[in-house]
Amino acid sequence: MSLFVTFEGPEGSGKSTQARLLYEHLQARGYPVILTREPGGTRIGELIRRILVDLQHTEMAPTTEILLFSAARAQLVSELVRPYLDAGGIVLCDRYADSTYAYQGYGLNRDLDELRAITSIATGGLQPDLTIYLDISAEEGLERKRQPRVSRTSTGKLVAAGLPTPNVSPPEWNRLDARDLAYHQRVANGFRELMLHEPERWRRMDARLPVDELARTIAEVVEPLLERITPLN
Ligand SMILES: Nc1ncnc2c1ncn2[C@@H]1O[C@H](COP(=O)(O)OP(=O)(O)OP(=O)(O)O)[C@@H](O)[C@H]1O
Ligand SMILES: [Mg+2]
Repeated sequence: MSLFVTFEGPEGSGKSTQARLLYEHLQARGYPVILTREPGGTRIGELIRRILVDLQHTEMAPTTEILLFSAARAQLVSELVRPYLDAGGIVLCDRYADSTYAYQGYGLNRDLDELRAITSIATGGLQPDLTIYLDISAEEGLERKRQPRVSRTSTGKLVAAGLPTPNVSPPEWNRLDARDLAYHQRVANGFRELMLHEPERWRRMDARLPVDELARTIAEVVEPLLERITPLN
């Protein structure tokens, strides 16, 4: 048995921070776990990411964008995610297919059924067992990205967050972030719609809670799913 957990949410909602904390928590407990991200996570995927996020690529057609995200996803699933799950491990992924539905579907008004068909080709139908949704308004998430990379714990302590992890870089201000607020609002509303259609897979968290409190709650949500995983050694 294996476990595939994805993190979704608007820009600056804390996905990378929480994915890293869950990764460290599971690793410290001896579970076989990897953390990866989209787009990217593989050599080829990281090259595709560079094309996607480049602020100079203003001429990119929406279909090109969709297919590049999907190409990076296909590489990630086939090179990393599928083999690791098949070996009985836990894969944590910072964004996955739901981001395509939210950003290109709701954000760019592309047909969701078409996107589902492309995604199914890219992933071979692989779905997350659990998707953590970090809920925050588009405005507030974007504002966090502009601020210094520190946040408060529940005791008021200032901590660094969004720090680099293996294969995961700190946040960047990229081509998709630079789209207007109305776009980001459509994305945030899109995520909420997606959640309504598949409530059993999603767990919504209030992304404005302190970093450590969120990490504890996420660890609690994941705990019962660990029964199916054999720890290392
Ligand atoms: N619970 C929190 N409360 C306050 N600030 C936070 C919290 N979690 C993360 N932050 C801060 O918000 C910013 C974005 O965090 P992070 O990079 O983890 O978000 P993200 O969802 O991965 O963003 P991106 O969409 O850019 O990938 C960082 O500056 C981080 O320190
Ligand atoms: Mg991130």
